[in-house]
Amino acid sequence: MNIVLDNIGKSYKAGKREVLALSGVSLNVGSGEFVSIIGPSGCGKSTLFKIICGLANPDRGSVRINGSRDYRPGDVLSYMPQKDLLMPWRTVLDNVLLPVKIRGEDLKKGREDALGLFPLFGLEGFESSYPGELSGGMSQRAALLRTVLAGRELMLLDEPFGSLDAITRFNMQQWLQEIWLKLNRTVIFITHDVDEAIFLSDRIYVMSPRPGSLRDCLEVTIPRPRTSSAVIGNNFVKLKEKLIGLLADQLPPSDS
Ligand SMILES: Nc1ncnc2c1ncn2[C@@H]1O[C@H](COP(=O)(O)OP(=O)(O)OP(=O)(O)O)[C@@H](O)[C@H]1O
Ligand SMILES: [Mg+2]
Repeated sequence: MNIVLDNIGKSYKAGKREVLALSGVSLNVGSGEFVSIIGPSGCGKSTLFKIICGLANPDRGSVRINGSRDYRPGDVLSYMPQKDLLMPWRTVLDNVLLPVKIRGEDLKKGREDALGLFPLFGLEGFESSYPGELSGGMSQRAALLRTVLAGRELMLLDEPFGSLDAITRFNMQQWLQEIWLKLNRTVIFITHDVDEAIFLSDRIYVMSPRPGSLRDCLEVTIPRPRTSSAVIGNNFVKLKEKLIGLLADQLPPSDS
């Protein structure tokens, strides 16, 4: 599985105004890689995912998956959007089985797979609960379980931990690393969080403010599995300094 974005541009019409969201975005992600995209709010990160998923059309440029522009998104990727995650009137099990149901795939097998993964996702015993009965971290894990169960090799995760407190968030990052090491999937991960990007990624693309373009790409060579002590290691701190520098360069001067 490999994905190549070539020179993507996209603008939105908002009434009479035209908003240029993305300009000249090119990137590539190889099989089994964990790649993050970090950038300021409104720079077009979610738009990029919508383009890859076929939910928005680019004005220019192309997306190729395994060399083809004519891929069917549902066949090759699963997408965890930034919001609107779980349906409150369905149980957790029914929520996570939704993609299997929608595609008319084998529901019995889907159910078995799902139940087998509930413990790994820290959701054992909550199969028949409703989303309103879960904590924030559990809801995010349920939404991730649904994305994993969709069974596609490429997973697009749009700020999956954005709404969580710092402690829960760090636990979730460690847990996601474990899952990723076990499941052997390709991940593109959107975040605003510098530590999260470094902790999880093989590579980090840094985006400029809107219109979003890619400003830099950093390699993270810290060995895995990364533990909580990795975040105070020399490599980590150096990368963090560089990343913060790249993002801070993008702020308007404070007297403007
Ligand atoms: N459907 C839409 N119609 C009009 N404008 C849109 C639409 N979706 C996004 N935009 C605009 O495009 C720009 C990029 O939005 P996008 O949601 O991709 O940003 P983002 O980087 O994901 O931001 P955040 O970090 O806050 O989630 C913003 O200026 C936004 O207002
Ligand atoms: Mg977004």
